[in-house]
Amino acid sequence: MNQSDTLAIVKPDAFGAGKAGKILAHLESAGFRVVATRVVRLSRTQAEAFYAVHRERPFFGSLVAFMTSGPCMPVLLRREDAVAELRRVIGATDPAEADEGTVRALYAESKERNAIHASDSPENAGIESAFFFAGTDRLLA
Ligand code: CMP
Repeated sequence: MNQSDTLAIVKPDAFGAGKAGKILAHLESAGFRVVATRVVRLSRTQAEAFYAVHRERPFFGSLVAFMTSGPCMPVLLRREDAVAELRRVIGATDPAEADEGTVRALYAESKERNAIHASDSPENAGIESAFFFAGTDRLLA
């Protein structure tokens, strides 16, 4: 399987609690390379656009409020089968249901304050990567 890229976001709960380094180390230990990263404070408009697919869900307002509550750290990650592997390594959305040793089991607080986002398909990985890293220099060829 060829190398591919996917998008993670260390969310405001984990970033604010100083867990970004531990989470990146966990991902690197799982075989991911960091292609690009930055620290951003999402505006309401940006958060609504990023999570537009959830616009009709009852938790949408709360999700946008949380994602704009502090800085977060989008990370462009690369490895073989990156999208599926990242989903496996971070665990279920709800940390109570996440497998032992996954990022969310280790670092998430709740279903909403769940430490990390990961793209759910190769198509969305492309869209979400462009959202944060279009035009960004990537030193990893
Ligand atoms: P994420 O992987 O970023 O994708 C959408 C996010 O919505 C999800 O992680 C959770 O943070 C949040 N979310 C999903 N389902 C719920 C829910 N039932 N209640 C609150 N937040 C949710």
